[in-house]
Amino acid sequence: MKTVYVAMSADLIHPGHLNIIKEAQKYGKVILGLLTDEAIASYKRLPCLSYEQRKVVVENIVGVERVIPQHTLDYIPNLLEIKPDYVVHGDDWKTGVQMGTRARVMDALRQWGGELIEPPYTEGISSTQLNEALKDIGTTPETRMKCLRRLLQAKNIVRILEVHNGLSGLIVEKTSFRDQGMTREFDGMWLSSLTDSTAKGKPDIEFVDLTSRMNTLNNILEVTTKPVLYDGDSGSIPEHFVFMVRTLERLGVSAVVIEDKVGPKRNSLLEKQDNQRQDSIESFSDKIRMGKQAQVTEDFMVIARIESLILGKGVGDALTRAAAFMDAGADAVLIHSKSDKPDEVLEFCGEYSRLGKKVPLVVLPTTYPQVTEEQLVEAGVNVVIYANHMLRSAYPAMQQAAESILKNSRCLEADRECMPVKDMITLIPHKE
Ligand code: SPV
Ligand code: MG
Repeated sequence: MKTVYVAMSADLIHPGHLNIIKEAQKYGKVILGLLTDEAIASYKRLPCLSYEQRKVVVENIVGVERVIPQHTLDYIPNLLEIKPDYVVHGDDWKTGVQMGTRARVMDALRQWGGELIEPPYTEGISSTQLNEALKDIGTTPETRMKCLRRLLQAKNIVRILEVHNGLSGLIVEKTSFRDQGMTREFDGMWLSSLTDSTAKGKPDIEFVDLTSRMNTLNNILEVTTKPVLYDGDSGSIPEHFVFMVRTLERLGVSAVVIEDKVGPKRNSLLEKQDNQRQDSIESFSDKIRMGKQAQVTEDFMVIARIESLILGKGVGDALTRAAAFMDAGADAVLIHSKSDKPDEVLEFCGEYSRLGKKVPLVVLPTTYPQVTEEQLVEAGVNVVIYANHMLRSAYPAMQQAAESILKNSRCLEADRECMPVKDMITLIPHKE
C-alpha cells in the first residue's frame, strides 16, 4: 500500500480539509502531518485549539490512517523521515508565498520518485473567514487565561502592547503586519498602571484603586480575545494581594506582575527614586507564595518584577532576587531598567541563563527602545512588553488638535489631521 502525506493546521475543520483528505485517500494510506502550535505560531496567530485537541479531531476523520506532528512550517524534515509516495496539497499554493515551500517539497519527492498531487482549492470557504467569525463571538475567561502559557510554549518571543481602554484594546487585537508570508501581530495586552492612571488624569502612585482598574480591564476584556498581563504595582499588602489574584483569575487575566517595592510607590522611570524602598527578599517572597496559594487554577501566573537596576543596586542583587523569587513560586521574572542602553538588562540575561532553575524572562524596553526583538531572543528573553506606546502616541495628537483650534479660531486645520467622522462611526462594526 502506498503512503500519502498531507500537512495541515486543522484548527477549524471545514469541507476544504475533508476534500483534501478524500482525494489523498484515493492514492494510499494517509499520514496526516499536524502542524504543532510552534509551527503555526512561526507564521501566524496561535490556533484556537491546542495541538492535543486538534489531534483528537483529525484522528477521527475517516481516511486518516495516522497523525504525526509537523514541528516546522517546512515539510522537509517529515518528508525525509517517512518518504511518502505522494504529497497532497490544494493547488492554491502554486502562487503566492507558499511557492517556495512547494518547490522544496517537489525537490524532496524527486529524491525517491514521489509525486505531488494538487486538487483544486475549495472555493467559498476559508479558515481566515472562520477565524474572523470566531473572533466576533469572543472568548471565555478560561480560554483567554490559558493563552499566555500556550504562547510561551509556542513562541520564541511573546510580544505584548500596552492598553488603557477598549479602543486601544481593539488596536492590539486587530493590528497586523504582513511580511513575506508571515503575519506579525501582538500576542497580548499590558494593562499598565502608568497609562491607566494617566488616562484618568491621575498620577501613577497606586492611587487609582482596584475597582476603578477593574472597570478599565472589563472594558478591554469585553472587546478583545487576546491574553492580558495586569500591572499589579506592588501587589499591595499580602492580605490584599490574595484578593487581587482571585479577582484577576476569575476575569480571565493570564498574569499579574508585581514589583518588589514597598511604601508609597512612584513610577520606576522617574529620575528621582530616593524615597523608593525595595521590599526585602523574604517579605516579597512571602507575598509571591501567598498569591500562588490563592489562585484556583494551574494556569494563572504571578510574575515577579525586580527593581534592583532601577534603584542602582546592580545585576548581582537582581540575580539573587530572581533566584529567590523563583524559589518562592514566581512563574516568570521581569527585569526592569531605566538605562538608555540595553546593556545592563542584557548582562542580567546572560547571567540569568546560567542559573540552574529558570522561568520565562520578561523585559520592558521603554528607555532602551533601540533594542530589537531579535537581540532579545538571542539574550533569552521570552516576553517583550511595549509598555506605554498607545497612550504616548495618542496624547500628542490630541494636544495638537486642541492647540490648532485655539490658534486658528476654527477647526478646519485640526479637521485635516483628524479621522473623518464617517470613518469613526464605522470604526467599530456592529450588527443592527
Ligand atoms: C507601567 O507601565 O505602569 C509600568 C512600567 O509599571 S514603568 O512605567 O516603566 O514603571
Ligand atoms: Mg506600573
